[in-house]
Amino acid sequence: MRVLEIVAGAAALAGFVQADVPQLPVPKTCSGVGQITYAHTTSPGWSAMKIAGNLKQVRTIVWDPLGNMLVSEATKGISVHTFGADGCINSSKALISNVQLNHGLAITPDGKTLYVSSETRAWQYSYDPATRTVSGEKIVVNGMASGIHSTRNLLVVPSQPNMVLLQVGSNANIDTASANKATGRAIIKIFDMSKVPASGYNYNTDGEVFGYGLRNEIGFTADPNGMIWGVENSGDDLTRTNNGQRQDIHKDNPSEKLNFLGDPLKTRDVWYGYPTCWTVWDPTPFGTMKTGSQFVLAPNATANDASCASVTPPRLSFQAHSAPIWNTFDANATNMYVTFHGSWDRQPPTGFKVVQIPFTKLANGQYDPVAPPDSMTGYKDIFSAQDPTRCTANGLTQSNCFRLTAAAWDPAGRGLFVGSDNSREGEIYLLSPTA
Ligand SMILES: *[C@@H]1O[C@H](CO)[C@@H](O)[C@H](O)[C@H]1NC(C)=O
Ligand SMILES: *[C@@H]1O[C@H](CO)[C@@H](O)[C@H](O)[C@H]1NC(C)=O
Ligand SMILES: *[C@@H]1O[C@H](CO)[C@@H](O)[C@H](O)[C@H]1NC(C)=O
Repeated sequence: MRVLEIVAGAAALAGFVQADVPQLPVPKTCSGVGQITYAHTTSPGWSAMKIAGNLKQVRTIVWDPLGNMLVSEATKGISVHTFGADGCINSSKALISNVQLNHGLAITPDGKTLYVSSETRAWQYSYDPATRTVSGEKIVVNGMASGIHSTRNLLVVPSQPNMVLLQVGSNANIDTASANKATGRAIIKIFDMSKVPASGYNYNTDGEVFGYGLRNEIGFTADPNGMIWGVENSGDDLTRTNNGQRQDIHKDNPSEKLNFLGDPLKTRDVWYGYPTCWTVWDPTPFGTMKTGSQFVLAPNATANDASCASVTPPRLSFQAHSAPIWNTFDANATNMYVTFHGSWDRQPPTGFKVVQIPFTKLANGQYDPVAPPDSMTGYKDIFSAQDPTRCTANGLTQSNCFRLTAAAWDPAGRGLFVGSDNSREGEIYLLSPTA
């Protein structure tokens, strides 16, 4: 299948051309919304307020071209929210009711088409931003495998909106079968939505492979050049066996990852290492290896760390067990922001925060993190549970702390919207630069 038929004219890059959206003030509080439920710390230079509550588990936030906010609420569906002149929500309604929806939500740059996903399917809808209504429901992808990782992230390629990226995570902590791309797991595929067969695509047999060996790439976003950056949740409970000696390395390894996934119009079939090669966070157990290096769990003469040379390593590493869920750039890609859902596989717990990754534009025009790939300090907290080491994680959505998910930079200039899918209450917080 030849998928790349460039749509005439360069479409505006979603999230970077926002001239039509009126700018809004940062509210101090919003009537009827209340305070952020959980004890938190906001870093100097930022303010934080709760802008929406009483939602189901918030997973994804996207904006339509009029600045309306569309929210994916796991086990409920998609809601849409408008804002008043004070910057607060002034109307909310259900847009799509479907208890199977659990994360994925994407919109074309013209705002006319939505994509949503469940564990096994993706649907397309026509959307009208003026009336905030959908029509023309259509199943576009079927047959995604179920498994321990149930969310299926979606992204419309901004410069070619008929192309849609759709991700499936692994079916186990170490899913050896996923090394075979035909399993359709630990993978991101790309589908041409202008040619969907009447019964929808089959995930495993149709589409093209964008990247694989991605254990669970829950969030990905485009930079202003249209290059894709994804965040990956890596393994739990890892041990390393060297010369017959088995060592528990799980507390601070492997790293969670920020992957540069490349150009969705050109890049195909790149291997990111899973389930064979893992990334060093804390180099202490690894001799001379550095943060960002690749390792295998049980090196021997034929299969060892050097065998990972064909892996595309992450561009930046995060603390093990942070559980990054979503990433987004600010208005001119000066920084990326990542939400950390927080851990169960580490004592003391970690995560439960939003971090900022400073970016730079290189001489060749590419966007790139300021920190080198072996850095352990390439990002900093801007908003955090007051004491992440005391946050519980009973199941995926229960905690005495927020469980941060969605991250979306506001086209109306108020700052960063972040979601929480704590099952007690779905909340959305607004983090605003004060400087
Ligand atoms: C919300 O506020 C906007 C902007 O002031 C206004 O155009 C719209 O009519 C308001 N909607 C409701 C339901 O109050
Ligand atoms: C080396 O490790 C690989 C991967 O675990 C395994 O398949 C292979 O049998 C091992 N080789 C030897 C000689 O033990
Ligand atoms: C990016 O935007 C910020 C905030 O509007 C501004 O302070 C900064 O100068 C901009 N940077 C560039 C490179 O345009």
